[in-house]
Amino acid sequence: MKIGIIGGTGGMGKGFALRWCKNHQVIIGSRDAQRASDAAKEYLDAAKQAYGNINGTISGTDNNSVASQSDVLILSIPYENIDSVCSGLLDKVKDTCTVISPIVPMTKTDIGFEFLPLKEGKPFSHQSVQKHMKNKNKLVSAFHVISEKKLVDPNYKLDYDIFVCGDDKESVDTVNGLISEISGLRPIFLGSGSLAYMAEIATPLLLNVMIKNKMKNPGIKIL
Ligand SMILES: NC(=O)c1ccc[n+]([C@@H]2O[C@H](COP(=O)([O-])OP(=O)(O)OC[C@H]3O[C@@H](n4cnc5c(N)ncnc54)[C@H](OP(=O)(O)O)[C@@H]3O)[C@@H](O)[C@H]2O)c1
Repeated sequence: MKIGIIGGTGGMGKGFALRWCKNHQVIIGSRDAQRASDAAKEYLDAAKQAYGNINGTISGTDNNSVASQSDVLILSIPYENIDSVCSGLLDKVKDTCTVISPIVPMTKTDIGFEFLPLKEGKPFSHQSVQKHMKNKNKLVSAFHVISEKKLVDPNYKLDYDIFVCGDDKESVDTVNGLISEISGLRPIFLGSGSLAYMAEIATPLLLNVMIKNKMKNPGIKIL
């Protein structure tokens, strides 16, 4: 499977690349093709050091080229840049491409981390991304409650649940499969895309819990 990561040069992008390169062709995307290519080389070295041989690959190019060739496309970009990145990009994806949004609309204020849709009346990420898509039901929201620090460390023992929201069963199944491939992660279906704000708000919830209670690496696990 070709997995493209828009904004793959960031922390989450590195984590996704390191986890999925074992079995897939991962393509790092960036606004700058050279930066993507440099990041891909660095991640590939890190993956070979961690796992020895891998069955997949990691390469890098510009965001537009990544979008047009991916079977699964992850939007690993800040909330503030959804419109500028996605307009003119998401209409390049294949009709069958599943698009994943891990994007969290939050801000840090004096009282802690706050959820922008509640604080400022802005749309939640799933809504913002979806308006740029032709096949709107191919959007799946997931990965809001796993931090990059845990994903980028192949030796970190994960034991967490990941909320998944989406409207198309095939796309949700694809994302569930990719989550399950990461040892220690379990997909938990939360509902349709219109409920994705519940998954998105879980990130400021977790961060506030972590800071106020001096907890290290909290995550979510449904018991
Ligand atoms: N960090 C976490 O632990 C975590 C956990 C859960 C969910 N998330 C969500 O996952 C997404 C990615 O997180 P991240 O920490 O990896 O993000 P990040 O490092 O802040 O940004 C990721 C990439 O986005 C691109 N980017 C930055 N500013 C941009 C702009 N103005 N216009 C277009 N592209 C821009 C950059 O790539 P280029 O400069 O190479 O184009 C950058 O490397 C975010 O939406 C975040 O809310 C993060």
